[in-house]
Amino acid sequence: MASRKIGLIGLGGHVPARVMTNDEWTQYVDTSDEWIRERTGIERRRIASDDESTADLAVAAARVALEDAGLAAIDLDEIIVATDTPEVYTPDTAAFVQHKLGAREIPAFDLGGSGCAGSVLALDIARHRAVGGHRKILVVGVELITRLMNWRDRNTAVLFGDGAGASIVGAGTSEILTAVAGTDGAQSGILGLESGGTRVPFTPEGAAEGLHKNLVMEGREVFRHATHRMSAAAAEVLAAAGVTIDDVDLVIPHQANIRIIEAVRKRLEVPEHKVFVNLQEYGNTGSASVPLALWEARKEGRVQSGSLVLLTAFGAGFHWAAMLVRI
Ligand SMILES: CC(C)(COP(=O)(O)OP(=O)(O)OC[C@H]1O[C@@H](n2cnc3c(N)ncnc32)[C@H](O)[C@@H]1OP(=O)(O)O)[C@@H](O)C(=O)NCCC(=O)NCCS
Repeated sequence: MASRKIGLIGLGGHVPARVMTNDEWTQYVDTSDEWIRERTGIERRRIASDDESTADLAVAAARVALEDAGLAAIDLDEIIVATDTPEVYTPDTAAFVQHKLGAREIPAFDLGGSGCAGSVLALDIARHRAVGGHRKILVVGVELITRLMNWRDRNTAVLFGDGAGASIVGAGTSEILTAVAGTDGAQSGILGLESGGTRVPFTPEGAAEGLHKNLVMEGREVFRHATHRMSAAAAEVLAAAGVTIDDVDLVIPHQANIRIIEAVRKRLEVPEHKVFVNLQEYGNTGSASVPLALWEARKEGRVQSGSLVLLTAFGAGFHWAAMLVRI
């Protein structure tokens, strides 16, 4: 089988309709619009309605990406869903997506727990599983974080929002040039959930206290690592492809905090107009953040056919991943 260029042949995204402003957060915690804007750059975020679940958001984004690619769900050969906020623990969200989307009985699996780096890692997995461009793989990054977070914890809750970003990986004119990824599991206690799973199983008492929603986050440490890892991964992927930052048309960093993005921008020595930011609208949407931003960047005309785009992401684990893709 001849090998063809493997890239992103369809892009999509979906966010819930309900907008929540920073001011609304003052009903729940001691905070202010000014604090959230200044410390994070976030102005509003989307909140899923009670009748929406993770798979619903994923399917909505997937439909947009399929239409963009000129494909139907039955054309898909595989589905990968990157999420830390799954439909249920078992089976994985990908099973629900396969069914709701009306895909064939194809392989479908989640990449769970890799936090906000999950979708870039999933794209890299998909490119290797596209078998020389003979298969079409749906990759969705999706989070419904606001249902699984502690609305009384001002340190974490104000940062997040719900959404989904989807890409179809397959053969076409687009090409994923290279990707890098890494993990530092020594930092696993700095960002993550304390309970659930086998180490600290859920108990009725713990659930009543909301322990399953308590995100542990050492904000300043996460900030420091995120800045370092996202810029280092970006530099590594540029070197691996034998290009420089000047060759890149747009950098799409994980949308966690405008100050993290700004620090990465400075380290990479890239001008502001070459960095895409939409976190003022959506907050941190976890693994949805990069594919959602990529889709929006193309809608806004900031990414066009032939653009060289650098994706860089960081999340719980710690995990990080960067990718260079010619659109
Ligand atoms: C969380 C974060 C915004 C905090 O910003 P910061 O400048 O580091 O703020 P600090 O941690 O120094 O906290 C400053 C003060 O603001 C307070 N504060 C925290 N959240 C607040 C809120 N929503 N509103 C008002 N005050 C708040 C803190 O309690 C602290 O008060 P204290 O000095 O009386 O203890 C920042 O550290 C960050 O973005 N970290 C990375 C988080 C992240 O991206 N996580 C996901 C990674 S994928």
